[in-house]
This record gives sequence, structure tokens and C-alpha cells, in this order.
Amino acid sequence: MKEINVGIVGTKFMGRAHSNAFIDAPYYFDLPAPPVLKAACGRDASSLEAFARRFGWQSVETDWERLVARDDIDLVDICTSNVTHMPIAVAAARSGKHVFCEKPIAMNAAEARHMWEAAEEAGITHMVAFNYRRVPAIMLARQLIEAGKIGEIRHFNAVYYQDWLIDPAFQYVWRHDKQEGGSGAHGDMNAHIVDLARFLVGEVQAVSGAQEIFIKERKSSTGEMLPVTADDATYFLARFQNGALGSFLATRFATGRKNFLRIELFGSRGSLAFNLERLNELEYFSSEDSDTEQGFRTILVTENKHPEIAAWWPPGHIIGWEHTFIHEVKDLLAAIAAQQPAFPDFFDGLRCQQVLDAVVKSAGENRWVDIPDLRRTG
Ligand SMILES: NC(=O)c1ccc[n+]([C@@H]2O[C@H](COP(=O)([O-])OP(=O)(O)OC[C@H]3O[C@@H](n4cnc5c(N)ncnc54)[C@H](O)[C@@H]3O)[C@@H](O)[C@H]2O)c1
Repeated sequence: MKEINVGIVGTKFMGRAHSNAFIDAPYYFDLPAPPVLKAACGRDASSLEAFARRFGWQSVETDWERLVARDDIDLVDICTSNVTHMPIAVAAARSGKHVFCEKPIAMNAAEARHMWEAAEEAGITHMVAFNYRRVPAIMLARQLIEAGKIGEIRHFNAVYYQDWLIDPAFQYVWRHDKQEGGSGAHGDMNAHIVDLARFLVGEVQAVSGAQEIFIKERKSSTGEMLPVTADDATYFLARFQNGALGSFLATRFATGRKNFLRIELFGSRGSLAFNLERLNELEYFSSEDSDTEQGFRTILVTENKHPEIAAWWPPGHIIGWEHTFIHEVKDLLAAIAAQQPAFPDFFDGLRCQQVLDAVVKSAGENRWVDIPDLRRTG
């Protein structure tokens, strides 16, 4: 395989972030098969043309079914609202295309399972865009955990705070509609911290949650008041299979907080903490330091020996949020070229979705809910 022809669906926030990643990846990493920005798909022809021109996509389609059917596309990249993920991914897999899909993988676990099974049956490479796994500080955290540096993990506490909905006049968008998003803050933001929990701690066994919609209706672009059906905030407590306890909160009503994702892990021999708004840093406490020197240290994760950093700048020259997408695209393209699986894959998307679904059920029924057990072997 000399090149990998990419077709992207969705041209806004994630469409831009993914386009940037495909463009940058070959400049910084040696790729066995570099990407070609073959076709972009969106519903509005004029903004689609402008998007394609700006990022260098070679052609356009206004219907994703046409894009997925094209013979000159190897990889379909899904950057659309959540209701479209399953039909696009399944159609793409069935026509032999590799699939890269934004999170949350689907509207619910049944859809996610359908996607995983279709992808496995087709033998294609599939990846879910849980880009925070590709933050070097998070990768370092995993290395430290695997090396036993914090011992047995007892707590995983995570908050994901944004505040863009505090204004009641903020216009109704697809993210307020359960029919298009599946859920609100929960699927959008808890999906990320659930994936990080699975990446760093392991599988979740049971959850107990609560959800709220604080502002019940909002004005649409046409001036009509529409009911908000997707959660503004979702909390939950969790038990992990390995005995650790977890707490999770995603809210778009954390006044003053913009994209504040903080995780804290407390173990038998040490602790780790991370905040996405300071993504080059990892806080680490080791109980093996001498009594007089103990304390949290802040590791600036910009040394050449740190994960992914050698491809970038000299120590102390920090990287940013967009680099996480470049790292995941680089790994996805390498996996496709090697005909290997990529991670996190649709199974990871499904396992995350099972946790999200269980939280919704728990909140609705006011009780703890177990997560079904499922292994990769089926
Ligand atoms: N990884 C992350 O950090 C991250 C951040 C934001 C959003 N997301 C996810 O990315 C996805 C897209 O979110 P966004 O913020 O880019 O949304 P957005 O509203 O900015 O863009 C959505 C795009 O999808 C297009 N679209 C919707 N239905 C379509 C269809 N049937 N055919 C063609 N195009 C269609 C829209 O026209 C628009 O271009 C969502 O699943 C979201 O949860 C992930």
C-alpha cells in the first residue's frame, strides 16, 4: 500500500481537527503509507467547497452514501453528529473501507455492538477517536502504572467541566437533542473519562448515576422554543472489576471552566493527577521518596524520552490539544498499512458505551446497575 485515500464526513469542529491531523502527520512521523485527502462530505454544498479548498481535500460529495461507495476511498473518517455514526460506519465496513469514528461511538450499546461486529466481519481496521489516550502525559501515566509505580489503584476520580451552556439564551443545537446525540454531556464528555478510566484502571463493573437538564427549552435558529432532551450534567459512582472505586462528573454548567478535564488516581504506592488544560504536565507522588522529600512533583512531559515527544520540539517546547489527533491518525495509518488492528477500536467504543448506557439506566431506575461482561473473543 503506497498511500491511503481518506474520505471524511463532517466539516466542522472535528472535520477541521481531523483534516489538520492528516495534513500534519506525514511531516512529523515516518508513515509507511501517507494519507491522501481524497474526498470531503458535508450537506451544505457552499460551505463544503470552502472547507475542501482550505484544507486541500481533492473532491467533494454531499451524500455520505456516495462517498462510502467510491472505489478510490480506503479509509472513511466519521466526524458527524452521533446519530449518523452507526449507519456510516457499517456501510463503510461492508464496502471494505477502514473506519475512523468520532466518540461516542454510537447512540447506544446495541448500535455500537452492530458496528463492532460489522467491522470484525469485514476484516477492516477500525478506531474510535478517543484522542486523550494520545496525550503524552496520559501515555506516561499508563507507563508508570504498568511499571507498578503507584501500586494497586484504589481510586479513579474524574471531572470534565465546561460552561458553554450556562447562558439560557445559548441557541439550541444538535447536542441538545437526544434523537441526534443519544445523550448530552454524558456521551460527549463522560465518554472521554470513561475511556481514560478503562485505559488506566481497567473494566468498570457497576455504576450508580444521576442526570439533570437545568434549562428545559432553548431557542432554535428560527426563533422557535424547542425542548432540551439531552442531559446538561451527569454524575456517577463506579466500582471497577479490580476493586477500585471511581467517581465521574461531566457538566456543561461548570461556570468559569472551559475544557477542564481532571483525573486523579490514588494507589497503594503513589498517586497521579492530570488536567487537560495543562496537558504537558503530569503530577506524580511516590510514597517511596524519603519522608522529608515526599510531595507531589509536576513532571513536564516534553523530554525526548517521553511518549511521542521525540517527533516534536526540544524539551520545554510544549505541544497542544491538536497534537493528540495527529498521534492517533499516525497510529491508525500505520495499523492500516501493516494490516493490523488499531486501538482504541470499536470494541473499546462498545465497552465505553455499555458503561454510559448503564449510567442512564441507573439514573432512570434510581439503583446500581451492572455492566454486562464482554470479551474481545466474543
Ligand atoms: N474527540 C473529541 O475531542 C471531540 C470533540 C468534539 C466533538 N467530538 C465528536 O465529533 C462528532 C462531531 O462533532 P463536532 O463537534 O464536529 O460537531 P459539529 O456540529 O461541529 O459538526 C458536525 C458535522 O457533521 C455534519 N453532518 C451531520 N449529519 C450529516 C450527514 N448526514 N451527512 C453529512 N454531514 C453531516 C454537519 O453538517 C457538520 O459538518 C460528534 O460525534 C462529537 O461527539 C469529539
